[in-house]
Amino acid sequence: MYQERVISLSIFLLFQICTSIDTITLTQPLQDGDILVSSGETFALGFFSPANTTNRYVGIWYNKVSEQTVVWVANRDNPITNTSCILSVDETGNLVLQENDHSFVHWSTNVSGLANRSYSAQLLDSGNLVLFQGVNKEIYSWQSFDHPSNTLLPGMKFGLDRKTGLNRVVTSWKSSDNPGVGDYSYKMEYVGSTQLFLYKRTTRIWRTGSWTGFGMSGVPELTPNYIVNASYINNNDEVVLIYNIRNSSIFSRLVVTELGTVVRLTWNEADRKWIGFWSAPKDQCDGYNHCGPFGVCDPYTSGTFECACLPGYEPRSQQDWFLRDGSKGCKSKVGTQMCKVGDGFVELARVKVPDTSMTRVNMSLGLEACEELCLRSCTCMGYASADITKGAEDGGCITWHGDMIDTRTFSDGGQSFYTRVDANELAKYSSKRLNKWQKNRFLVLGLPMIAAAFFLCTFLICCYMIKKKNGKRNEGESGFSFMNSLKTLERSLMEKDIGKNVDLDVFDLSVIAAATDNFSPLNKLGEGGFGSVYKGKIQNGQEIAVKRLSQSSGQGMEEFKNEVMLIAKLQHRNLVRLLGYCFHKDEKMLVYEYLPNKGLDSFIFDQEKAFLLDWKKRLQIIHGIVRGLLYLHHDSRLKIIHRDLKASNILLDSDLSPKISDFGMAKIFRGDEGETKTRRVVGTYGYMSPEYAMEGLFSIKSDVFSFGILVLEIISGRKNNSYYKENSVNLIGHVWDLWKQDKVLTVVDSSLGDLFDAREVLLCIHVGILCVQELASDRPTMTGVAYMLTNQGAMLPSPNQPAFIFRQMNYGCNPASASGCVGSVFNETITILQAR
Ligand SMILES: *[C@@H]1O[C@H](CO)[C@@H](O)[C@H](O)[C@H]1NC(C)=O
Ligand SMILES: *[C@@H]1O[C@H](CO)[C@@H](O)[C@H](O)[C@H]1NC(C)=O
Ligand SMILES: *[C@@H]1O[C@H](CO)[C@@H](O)[C@H](O)[C@H]1NC(C)=O
Ligand SMILES: *[C@@H]1O[C@H](CO)[C@@H](O)[C@H](O)[C@H]1NC(C)=O
Ligand SMILES: *[C@@H]1O[C@H](CO)[C@@H](O)[C@H](O)[C@H]1NC(C)=O
Ligand SMILES: *[C@@H]1O[C@H](CO)[C@@H](O)[C@H](O)[C@H]1NC(C)=O
Ligand SMILES: *[C@@H]1O[C@H](CO)[C@@H](O)[C@H](O)[C@H]1NC(C)=O
Repeated sequence: MYQERVISLSIFLLFQICTSIDTITLTQPLQDGDILVSSGETFALGFFSPANTTNRYVGIWYNKVSEQTVVWVANRDNPITNTSCILSVDETGNLVLQENDHSFVHWSTNVSGLANRSYSAQLLDSGNLVLFQGVNKEIYSWQSFDHPSNTLLPGMKFGLDRKTGLNRVVTSWKSSDNPGVGDYSYKMEYVGSTQLFLYKRTTRIWRTGSWTGFGMSGVPELTPNYIVNASYINNNDEVVLIYNIRNSSIFSRLVVTELGTVVRLTWNEADRKWIGFWSAPKDQCDGYNHCGPFGVCDPYTSGTFECACLPGYEPRSQQDWFLRDGSKGCKSKVGTQMCKVGDGFVELARVKVPDTSMTRVNMSLGLEACEELCLRSCTCMGYASADITKGAEDGGCITWHGDMIDTRTFSDGGQSFYTRVDANELAKYSSKRLNKWQKNRFLVLGLPMIAAAFFLCTFLICCYMIKKKNGKRNEGESGFSFMNSLKTLERSLMEKDIGKNVDLDVFDLSVIAAATDNFSPLNKLGEGGFGSVYKGKIQNGQEIAVKRLSQSSGQGMEEFKNEVMLIAKLQHRNLVRLLGYCFHKDEKMLVYEYLPNKGLDSFIFDQEKAFLLDWKKRLQIIHGIVRGLLYLHHDSRLKIIHRDLKASNILLDSDLSPKISDFGMAKIFRGDEGETKTRRVVGTYGYMSPEYAMEGLFSIKSDVFSFGILVLEIISGRKNNSYYKENSVNLIGHVWDLWKQDKVLTVVDSSLGDLFDAREVLLCIHVGILCVQELASDRPTMTGVAYMLTNQGAMLPSPNQPAFIFRQMNYGCNPASASGCVGSVFNETITILQAR
């Protein structure tokens, strides 16, 4: 050891006198015995042998530190046994360690696809060996900082380069005399919220915890006044952690040792030795998952078992616990009723937060919104601030979904973690800490209530004024006066949407033929009610959808005029817009705005596309359909019943906002007319209300029925009649069965995973079931639906058994009564002529 030092020192002195090169090129290789010194003379590169071996390695060490301290090794697993090798840059632009006569390559940077220009490798003063391309060193193709050995130097990026997929891992030496890749590795894991792990081969043995704003949750020593300042970068290019030394004249390094520890060492020049500054893991509680799932490790218990359970949990095995084996962890206490009204959180202060692999992070939420978010998701087990340096308001939000493992406490440092408990457990904690809770209760309940009261007053005053202005126009309608005010308000808002004078274009047949490439099958978008729909592009570049009514279709002049008149008057952002029409001999065509996305059916019923609609989008779509229907049903001038609402008639625009289309079957009512009978029943199986399908009775409540089916389909991702064949029960029946068993959440589309707000989904299902009630009078109006969906606290009536009409129709497709009954066509609009 001493000899080594003397030799390297003397070499160092020798080279400082003769040369001070820091660059290797094709013509300027490095031979065994030569040393490259960085420009500021901080680092040196050359051949070396570790203690107790004669193997030769190429490495980088501190130039000014008297004890040879290697921080990077090139040929870690390919030692050289003689001194005949050279390190050079070859014609392919790679740095290669090879025999003098080029007979054998021991190590290479192995970068391919380089442009052949001039290459050089330079040792920078940071300790980074960089392979440059070009005379001006404008591009680098490789750097030793991207391939760390066992040492993290200040300024080095530790973590993932998203563009190249490179994850920089620090690995221990095999032993003090063998720099080969050893058993221990320290690496960043960026699933959930980023954290670092120390591994022994593939076993996690220590975890840093997640980034808190200035350090890691599990490294309390890393305070803002620590010797190093750490910065964390997470953007589209990379997720990295960089340690910098505040006083750059101090030599400090982080090493993963062959003993399985991560240590920070600083050089003490006066004593000429490295001083251990910090190391981990420190105690039992640092051992990864020491107390098992839902356990919490507290090393400050004098003599008693260090493992405990999180509030609301108890040991999975009392026997193991007694024997001081915490590895099986804890389970929910018997009788815990999680995800019920009254759930709350207990704060654990100064902890390393649980493993963040199963977490979701939202940086735009504060701590209060975080609590709210967690409470609304049944899978959320706890939450914490993502950045404790920014305060509760702006600190972001991490929520845990899944087992909470590897939680520990500190005497100082760490951060606050809030674990979910049920009402019973909460009561135990809140009685202990009443003051805090009283304060919180006020914040959580008091302030919103005051705000709500304020808004209610404002709202009622508004309603009163609108009502006064509108005079007695709405007297004909009965019902709860609050609902009436609501309707009035909605109406006055909706009237803004209605265009003044409708200007419809009359298209020439030749224009449309040109736009659609003469109705080329390639441009066909699909079959709508009574005709095919084509995509076209008119001369000004605008894209259009042309509905060409088939001559043989049931839709005659009557329907055509109806649809034109009707849609021309309807201008609402949730209704598809009619641009014009074309009328030529037998040809009747409607020209609509073109929506790039197809119908809702092509999303929700398609396994490959269903995931594009997350729960939030689906909820937005439901709300959009509600707005569109509200407009149709309750516009003061016209009452329009669509009569053919179904997933394929809900088109999605580029933002995936829904637009109701296809008014070919719609009926207009004026004044108080509410229910009508028709001989021609038109509609689509699976969406028709019983009274309409059986008796030809239709009203706004038949649209409400179809809407209810749509809601259930949007949530479940299944067609109402798709259950038909399987269990001889349709989706309604299936949902109703699950509803009765209290398991209705299992109907949710599996492509949503558990990424949905259970309360919102439950509310929508509840409303959906109310909409498909057997009796039209049991179904709400769209105004009621809108009210229920937007007021989460509203008391909803309990549903009765919904209509199972389609099961009956399966068996009872009575040829005597339904002349047009087409048993196999379930998605197409059909006409049934009632024999009465
Ligand atoms: C080198 O070997 C000697 C004798 O086997 C041993 O005492 C010493 O610790 C070894 N040095 C290192 C650095 O492994
Ligand atoms: C050096 O060792 C290598 C094997 O590691 C061998 O191939 C080469 O011939 C040796 N060179 C000399 C000059 O002995
Ligand atoms: C260089 O890379 C190629 C493919 O990436 C690999 O097959 C080869 O073994 C590597 N060579 C060395 C010397 O690392
Ligand atoms: C660069 O590579 C091309 C083809 O790979 C070769 O024709 C050319 O001679 C090379 N130029 C130099 C300067 O090596
Ligand atoms: C860390 O220290 C370096 C050097 O003093 C400084 O440039 C950098 O801005 C600091 N970063 C933070 C986050 O304080
Ligand atoms: C940095 O460290 C050097 C050596 O330890 C010391 O002399 C100097 O005062 C320090 N500088 C600052 C700004 O702390
Ligand atoms: C974060 O929360 C905000 C506010 O609720 C929300 O608008 C945003 O979409 C959320 N971001 C993510 C990634 O979930």
